[in-house]
Amino acid sequence: MTRDPDTDAEAEPTSEDRDDLRPDGGAVDDVALDPWGSATVDDYRKLFEQFGIEEFDAVLPDVPDPHYLMRRGVIFGHRDYRPVAEAMREGEDFAVLSGFMPTGDPHIGHKMVFDEIIWHQQQGGEAYGLIADLEAHAARELSWAEIDEHAKSYVLSLLALGFDPEAGALYRQSDNREVQDLGFELGTKANFSELQAIYDFDGETDVSHMQSVVTQMADILYPQLDGPKPTVIPVGPDQDPHMRLARDLAARMRYFGVTEAFASFEVDGAVERTLLRQAYDALDAEAADDERVRCADAADWLRAEREALGASDGTSGEAASRDALSDARESVCEKLDAAGKEPLRPRVRFLDRNATEAAFDALIEAVDGEKRVYENHVDAFEMDRGAAEELAREVEVENGGYGFLPPSSIYHRFMTGLTGGKMSSSVPASHISLLDDPEDGYDKVKAATTGGRETAEEQREKGGKADECPVYELYAYLLSGDDDEFAKEVYDECVGGERLCGGCKEQAAELMEEFLADHQEKRAEWEERLDELDIDFDSDRKRIGGD
Ligand code: TRP
Ligand code: SF4
Repeated sequence: MTRDPDTDAEAEPTSEDRDDLRPDGGAVDDVALDPWGSATVDDYRKLFEQFGIEEFDAVLPDVPDPHYLMRRGVIFGHRDYRPVAEAMREGEDFAVLSGFMPTGDPHIGHKMVFDEIIWHQQQGGEAYGLIADLEAHAARELSWAEIDEHAKSYVLSLLALGFDPEAGALYRQSDNREVQDLGFELGTKANFSELQAIYDFDGETDVSHMQSVVTQMADILYPQLDGPKPTVIPVGPDQDPHMRLARDLAARMRYFGVTEAFASFEVDGAVERTLLRQAYDALDAEAADDERVRCADAADWLRAEREALGASDGTSGEAASRDALSDARESVCEKLDAAGKEPLRPRVRFLDRNATEAAFDALIEAVDGEKRVYENHVDAFEMDRGAAEELAREVEVENGGYGFLPPSSIYHRFMTGLTGGKMSSSVPASHISLLDDPEDGYDKVKAATTGGRETAEEQREKGGKADECPVYELYAYLLSGDDDEFAKEVYDECVGGERLCGGCKEQAAELMEEFLADHQEKRAEWEERLDELDIDFDSDRKRIGGD
């Protein structure tokens, strides 16, 4: 579906309409996100609520010349894409990276990710495409011979679609020593219980599978090895658990944490900090110019406020969050009492998390204006939060740290299978491989399920259901390319009853045949030039049985 701002809103389904589309018609209460599972994500809306993925539409206006998959709502979600969009606008450094498990032939679902990498490369990003061969070996138990063959095929398609290998980098996990080393370092910040909670690992999970997780974490942070930069990882939503862990690990590697603080003591979390902010703001507003707000007074104010709101803590929320608020209030008041006459003053705090001694000293030196130095933190009274974050990163990088920015991600919808239901690599008729004979591609489209009506007459009267039609999806996701007008024309003609499925499929089938023929020609050209690439498709590894 096109989402051209000029089009009639009535005829254009919004992304919300799209969310209601479940090919199986079922409602799902809980979305399981399992990177190695076969489940489709049935309700994208739940991803926003349960996992904090944000709607892509909200950042779309900030993206210069957005890709058609973005314009058409195929890329539906993101985490923290704003810094990437900003770097793109400002002409600053940014990177794009994604990885592919070489478990079979690349298909039209992978093409979306290839295109996303290539588009970011064309927008000026440093681009990386990697073959997740260690993961395929450990998590999918593929032999090295199979892996080599598929690895080459993924690379050929990525190149055929326009990846520039001179400007960008292609690598295999197994061949990248820097990635291995980074994975090892990152592994010092993650433990088994955490992997168990995120991935459902248990006592039977083999160690190499776990190693493939830290390897992926290293892949995701690899573009930042030569310096922090916004990095986007285009993936399907099933990879989101990896993104959350990577973002956590990136933060855990940092030398310094930067927080807002009000007094010399530490508070626990955002709720306690908010209470302090409220007390400070209220008392500071009442205080005379030369009068200082004292900790003990803030404790009294918080207690008085609680009295005024009633013992229930005044909130109408769930009992659990009421209790949490009241615990936080209790804890803050105790700390304030203990601090007694100490003045309460807003400041930014740099916490020493992993800094070397030299780096901590350098930070103290670098903080401008009034500051106070404690054993494990420095408080700065004349700096705002943003400047403090920047300084912390700068000092870290100058003193030999990574200074990682949390990596960003964008998520695309999975395509519906041509036979209805999900697209599955084990059901050839449900998907189109980029290696399919063009005529077979033609036949598969001709045989596809549609959103058409029982009879031509009914179709003319009521219009087709383009939103439930895998053939329409082919037009929107692939066959229309950058041509929004064409995609919209197909959509409007379908729902308006002017387009009948026979002719529509014929047109789609021909376009698919052409696309495959052209793609395969380009693959063949690249096949001749593989020696120009710095990637090896012969894993010289010993074989072991049961592999
Ligand atoms: N786990 C991904 C998959 O199953 C492959 C992968 C490995 C990857 N490393 C990555 C994806 C880094 C994105 C970024 O397909
Ligand atoms: Fe699908 Fe085309 Fe039929 Fe509409 S006319 S339902 S888009 S095949």
